[in-house]
This record gives sequence, C-alpha cells and structure tokens, in this order.
Amino acid sequence: MMRGAMGPPQSAISIIILAAGQGKRMHSGLPKVLQPLAGRPLLAHVIDCARAIGAGDICIVYGHGGDRVREAFRDQELRWAHQADQKGTGHAVRQAMPGTPKSNRVVVMFGDVPLLRPATVKKLIEACAGDEVGVLTVDMDDPFGYGRIVRENGQVTESIEEKDASDEQKRIREINTGVTTAPAAMLDKWLGNLKNDNRQGEYYLTDVLGMAVTDGVTVHGVKTTDQAEVMGINDKRQLAEAERALQSRLVGELMEQGVSFADPARVDIRGSLKCGRDVFIDVNAIFEGDVELGDGARIESNNLIRDTVIGAGTVIHSNCHIEQSRTGANCEIGPFSRLRPGAELASNVKIGNFVEVKKSVIADGSKVNHLTYIGDTDIGAGVNVGAGTITCNYDGANKYRTVIGDKAFIGSGVQLVAPVEIGADATIGAGSTITKDAPAGKLTLERSKQVTIEGWKRPEKKPK
Ligand code: UD1
Ligand code: MG
Repeated sequence: MMRGAMGPPQSAISIIILAAGQGKRMHSGLPKVLQPLAGRPLLAHVIDCARAIGAGDICIVYGHGGDRVREAFRDQELRWAHQADQKGTGHAVRQAMPGTPKSNRVVVMFGDVPLLRPATVKKLIEACAGDEVGVLTVDMDDPFGYGRIVRENGQVTESIEEKDASDEQKRIREINTGVTTAPAAMLDKWLGNLKNDNRQGEYYLTDVLGMAVTDGVTVHGVKTTDQAEVMGINDKRQLAEAERALQSRLVGELMEQGVSFADPARVDIRGSLKCGRDVFIDVNAIFEGDVELGDGARIESNNLIRDTVIGAGTVIHSNCHIEQSRTGANCEIGPFSRLRPGAELASNVKIGNFVEVKKSVIADGSKVNHLTYIGDTDIGAGVNVGAGTITCNYDGANKYRTVIGDKAFIGSGVQLVAPVEIGADATIGAGSTITKDAPAGKLTLERSKQVTIEGWKRPEKKPK
C-alpha cells in the first residue's frame, strides 16, 4: 500500500504494457515495438515512463517477434506474459492478469504510445478514488483511426472503435488514448466477460469501460491537452511524426537550460545529451548514446557524436565523426576528423582534417593537423605530428603501441612501425619509415640518398 500526501491509502500499481501486436501497418520485419524512436525502441520509452510512475510491477505482454522483444530488454527487471495469438487488446491484458496481485491497481499502457509523460499518467491515477476506473483521453484535430469516447451528461459511458462507430460517433473528437486504469480484481472479471462480436472480431480492452459503467462504477475520462504525447504509432508516417515531436521536446528542454541551437528543428538527440553553460550547436548535429558537452563547447554543422565527453571550450568544426572518445578543455577538432573508440585527448589538443585517432592518448597542447592515422599510441605533451604520418599498429595479426615523448616533432609523411618509441624532444625527418626506437633530443632519419640522373628523358607518346 502506498499512502498519498493526503487522502486514503492507494493500492500498489501494476503496469501492463501491451506489445504483442505485429504492427502490420509498419510493413517491416522488425516488430512494431522495436521500431526506433530517438535511437531506442518504442517500447523502451514506454518502460521508462512506467518506471518513472513508480510501478513496482511492470508486465510486458509480448507475442509477435517475441524472442527479439524479450532479448532487447534482457538486462531489465520485467515480468513477461506471452500472448500467442493476437486476439485484441482486452485478450492481451488478460494474459498478464495471472501474475498481477489482485489487490493492486492496474494501469494499462500501449507499447506503441511512446511519448506519454509520467506526470500525465499519475494525474489519471490520482483522479480515481477507491475502485474507480480511469481512461486517458484527448481531443484530436484528426481523430481518424482512434477509439471515440462516448459521454452522456459529461460522464463517460463507453468507448467505440473507429471501425464500429456510427457516422455520428465518428464526429466525436475526444479519443481513447488506450491508457486505462482499474482495480485488478474487477478488471479481471470484466476481461473474462469480453466478447469479440465487433467488426474486427477482437476482444477489445476498451469495452471494459462500458462494463464498468453497467456495474455502476464511475469511469473518469481524464483529458490531456497534448495530442503529440498520446499519439499511437501504427505506421512509418506516424513514427516520423513522433520522432519530430520527441526531438522538439528534447531540444526544448535544452533551450530552457540555456543551450543555443542555430535551428532547433535541425538537430537529433538519440540518447542523453548533457550540456554545460553557453553551449552552441549548429545544424545537423546528431548525438547518440550518452554525450556530454562542457561549458562553452561549440558544435559546428554536420557532426555525429556518440557516447563522448567534450571538454569546456572545445570546438568541433564541421563534418566530424566522433565515437566513445573524450576531449579535455579548449581542443579544436576537425573539420573532417574521425575520433574512434578510445581517443582520449587532454586540453588544447588540435586534431585537423582527415585525421583518424583510435585507442590513443594525446597529452596537452599536441597537434595532429593533417591527413594522419594515430592508432594505439601514447603521444606526450606539446608534440607536433606532421601531415601524412601513419602509426603502423597492425602486422596483419597483432596490434602494437607507439609511444611519442613530450615535444617530439614528427616530420611529414612518416611511418612509425609499432612497437616503437620516439624519445622526448626527438625530431623525425620527413618521409622516414621508423622501425627502431628513436632517441630523445636527436634528429633521426630513414631515407635513401637523393640522386639526380643526368641525361634522363621523359618518355614520349609513340606515333600511331
Ligand atoms: C487502440 C485502441 C483505441 C485507441 C488506440 C490509441 C483498442 C481496441 N483500441 O487501437 O481505442 O484509440 O489504441 O492508440 O484497444 N496489442 C497486443 N495484442 C493484441 C492487440 C494489440 O499486445 O492482440 C498491442 C499492440 O502491440 C499495441 C497496442 O496493443 O502496442 C494497441 O494495439 P493497436 O492494434 O495498435 O490498436 P489501435 O488500433 O491503435
Ligand atoms: Mg495503435
């Protein structure tokens, strides 16, 4: 039993999420509830909402693509109920009832209604005292396809599916969002009495509302005002609309915290983006996984940044691809740089165009400005790596590390064949292929002598 701030004690909550449908209208091999929204399955968003409501018991009704759905959430503590044949939303809820404590209040949510806010569902629960029933509704500009809420004298009397509705009922703009709450024991009874004598031959959860009214139980139709929040995703068009709606919600929250966007409609956040003060984000930046941007960071156009921490004051110029990396403060990356997993840059580091860095640590103030591959390398502070340098880290079977000491200067077009160590303050002449360690403080070169061939002539085209 949970006790609210005021009033009588409230029942514990069991949330049942319906996710067994195939989603025929998606025309996809991927089960509907696994279709990605902001980079995560639709169902993941619904589960997050259920957790935020504080439900101790969350049960997923699965069926279509069953193993794939369970597999996608195997690291979460969830109850699973299998619905072998999809005979309708009421039939689906019934599959979850055997494991649901009879004294609990059930809240049914749909796996294809992913934008719902926890506060909205809490409002619905709070509207229902004792044994009352609640359904979340909204006035839709275009209610087509949704179940309609029928009221008499303001009281909800039933919910009618689009396909079963009369022309007059089809004109009702108040729709059933699917989010429904009822005491478990009574819900169980009503579900057992459902009939499938409707146009779709299905057992509708929505029929429970009319049954409750017949039993003299009050049904609260709690109206929310945010149409986007309750939109059901049935096809790719709605999926795309939901994506835009969620993106604008995420970007809106960041703007409230002070983040500047060149165009709030041209940025994508697929995961969690944490920003410090005075962060600027230009168009077509895509953030995936967990990304953090420090104070004053600046992300220019066309960047993909995934699971990365960007330090304060660091600028990511246009067209970079950055993954599982970390930069310190005041670095400059790009344009056209690629930071692969394990790129760890300290402060004031510069990574320029067409430079790839993987599993490497680069200390303070070092510069790798042009056309270079740095892999499995430790670079000290104040190092300058010339254009076209390659750390040859792979012999076809194993990987080896390169170590470059502080203030070393690597000339252009150098190959460092790992394992190899370049001492501090060493200079490596341009064009060298370095296979042995180079001592600190000295110039090391590896080149054949330059020769000039006297009397040599360029070949000429033969007459035809
Ligand atoms: C349903 C509601 C409708 C409401 C709309 C809101 C019913 C009968 N209709 O219609 O009133 O306006 O949602 O979006 O409830 N599912 C199962 N097993 C089944 C059938 C469905 O798990 O046998 C799941 C689906 O995977 C989906 C959810 O239930 O997550 C809703 O099913 P869907 O077929 O999308 O119902 P709608 O036609 O959208
Ligand atoms: Mg639906």
